[in-house]
Amino acid sequence: MRLILLGPPGVGKGTQARRLAEYFTIPQVATGDMLRDHIRDKTDLGQQAQSIMARGKLVPDDVILAMVEARLREQDALDGFILDGFPRTVPQGVGLTAILERLSVTLDAIVSVTVHSDIVLSRLSSRRTCTQCNAVYNLVIHPPRVLGVCDACGGTQLIQREDDRPETIRKRLDVYYEQTFPLLAYYQSTGLIREVPGDGTIDEVFQLILASLPEESIRA
Ligand code: AP5
Repeated sequence: MRLILLGPPGVGKGTQARRLAEYFTIPQVATGDMLRDHIRDKTDLGQQAQSIMARGKLVPDDVILAMVEARLREQDALDGFILDGFPRTVPQGVGLTAILERLSVTLDAIVSVTVHSDIVLSRLSSRRTCTQCNAVYNLVIHPPRVLGVCDACGGTQLIQREDDRPETIRKRLDVYYEQTFPLLAYYQSTGLIREVPGDGTIDEVFQLILASLPEESIRA
């Protein structure tokens, strides 16, 4: 399964990508998580990305494309992957097409998840993220079993992301509609786009995504 998950900030891409990755036993390739790992590890790329991300803007396409190509060449991604938060601009979409050609593989589906912006604001203001393993919680619907402790790795740094402040969320939504939404037109002719409403429960959205996928790619 080779899948792109598209959608605005807070729609649930990361949550669903993790589930899909587990379901299909393939990696979740989340450019936001990869960039946050660079920031945590204080790499040159992390230092370059930090202020861009805090302002809700996008990291340059060439940096992202190099990072993703290197990741997709790793052994565990050879049989499939879930792309979460990438591509995010039409040039990234064009770059991905070239990467997939170099790898001699094709996409199975592009799942576009949608919700109203009010829901995004409410979900993101109660999100908490583990700085150690990037696990995502929600204080309202999906809190960690022990407050402040990550269920997945036991880490104790469950933080509110710097870019989850209301004014930055609004900026990220603007950036999404200006720069990412046009990807749907870019991919229109592929026939791979599946529109899935993201306003149900996490389980409901997961089932809708699975039901939207081409049967032959689920069996493969
Ligand atoms: P990134 O980390 O990719 O952020 P995003 O796309 O804005 O998406 P989010 O992580 O905010 O939300 P999500 O859709 O994954 O929702 P989640 O599952 O967490 O990017 C961050 C920044 O990095 C960018 O702004 C940019 O600067 C940079 N960047 C990243 N990729 C880039 C790229 N390709 N090019 C350039 N720059 C790039 O869910 C949100 C909350 O809702 C959680 O609390 C969750 O528990 C809850 N929730 C999920 N589903 C449901 C549900 N069905 N019902 C109720 N609550 C739910």
